[in-house]
Amino acid sequence: MKTIIINGANGYVASHFIIKLLKHKYKVIALVRPSIKFSSTERIKKVLEENSYGEKVNIANLQVFNYSLLHKDFLIPQEQLEEIFSEDVDYFHFAASLKYNLKSKDEIFKTNVEGVENSLKIYTKYATKNSRFFFIGTAYSCGKIDEPFQEKFYANQDITYFRNYYEQSKRFGENVVKNFISQKGINGHILRLSQVVGHNQSGVTKTDYGIFDFTKRVHNLASRYPYETVRVKINPEATQNLIPINTVVRYLLRAVNVESLPVIMNFVSKNQIQNIQIINIINKILPIKIIPVKFIAQNDFSLLERSIALGMSFTGNYIDTNIVFETKNLDKIMSTSKDEPNEHSVYKMIEYFINNLTQKKKNR
Ligand SMILES: NC(=O)c1ccc[n+]([C@@H]2O[C@H](COP(=O)([O-])OP(=O)(O)OC[C@H]3O[C@@H](n4cnc5c(N)ncnc54)[C@H](OP(=O)(O)O)[C@@H]3O)[C@@H](O)[C@H]2O)c1
Repeated sequence: MKTIIINGANGYVASHFIIKLLKHKYKVIALVRPSIKFSSTERIKKVLEENSYGEKVNIANLQVFNYSLLHKDFLIPQEQLEEIFSEDVDYFHFAASLKYNLKSKDEIFKTNVEGVENSLKIYTKYATKNSRFFFIGTAYSCGKIDEPFQEKFYANQDITYFRNYYEQSKRFGENVVKNFISQKGINGHILRLSQVVGHNQSGVTKTDYGIFDFTKRVHNLASRYPYETVRVKINPEATQNLIPINTVVRYLLRAVNVESLPVIMNFVSKNQIQNIQIINIINKILPIKIIPVKFIAQNDFSLLERSIALGMSFTGNYIDTNIVFETKNLDKIMSTSKDEPNEHSVYKMIEYFINNLTQKKKNR
């Protein structure tokens, strides 16, 4: 079986992918940085257990290495790197900072641009000719585009073209890969994910990113001010592109299994979910009434409404998006009809997420 190398291996998406790879008997090399309290191995074991929904994960084919993303050779001894890359591998670069604000700009660019470059240097130095490099990008690196986002490279642009530094840094990261493809001749691929949510069938949701960050804020509000009616500046008709974690994992596994792949694929859903559908779900589950309003002057907000608006600095960037993502390349290799999110599956995810929040609050 092919060897799959994954950095940022303890992250949300990567850990779900690793569980699937191990199930399919792939040899997995996980690059994980240690935390203050836990070693790399402890970290990955913990997250694999948490994300396997009670199923036992056989880790016989898993090797874990400490690494330091920005250092020469990741601070891994040369003999070990030679061993790791001795056969053809699929190398997945997952590591990224998902922060987005000005305060974190340096960290975002160091991790998401310099980190990719360093990863590629090491890959180029050690990997065999038939190995493949996969960069996990984001579909939102499209920035403030007003035409369909195609599965092709786009030039670097200044920050005014993007909603935040995260999007901009991921665009820059793609172009670092592009340069290595053209100048070093590597087999490089870009897999752009939209907003990754929970499991489409079970509803299990272990991320608090995007719509779940918003849900968490409304949950707080509902426990502090139950039965209030709160207006939020959100375009009810605008859409979110949500991709279930099980769908992402299926696509990633398919990418490993297909020999000849397009260079860029948008891993997105065709069935976009409207903001009003998400808000109706939250209103059904929580004792609060959120009213989305497209236009409202800051001065017309009540104090409570102003406080929720302030807390939405990230979500706020995505309240009026209606982006069309092309999927011609994706469609060449994936059957995308099943596992699309719909109102029912998103309901299950939000319900699971809220129950978890409530339980955590009780346990505190
Ligand atoms: N989640 C989404 O909705 C979404 C959507 C589009 C694209 N993506 C892309 O998918 C990939 C995985 O995202 P995710 O949601 O799974 O994120 P995540 O759970 O936050 O995982 C990020 C991973 O990157 C590692 N990392 C961050 N900074 C690092 C550094 N300086 N050095 C070494 N490792 C570092 C983290 O390690 P630590 O745990 O040690 O910090 C973690 O393993 C990212 O490339 C992201 O841009 C995600």
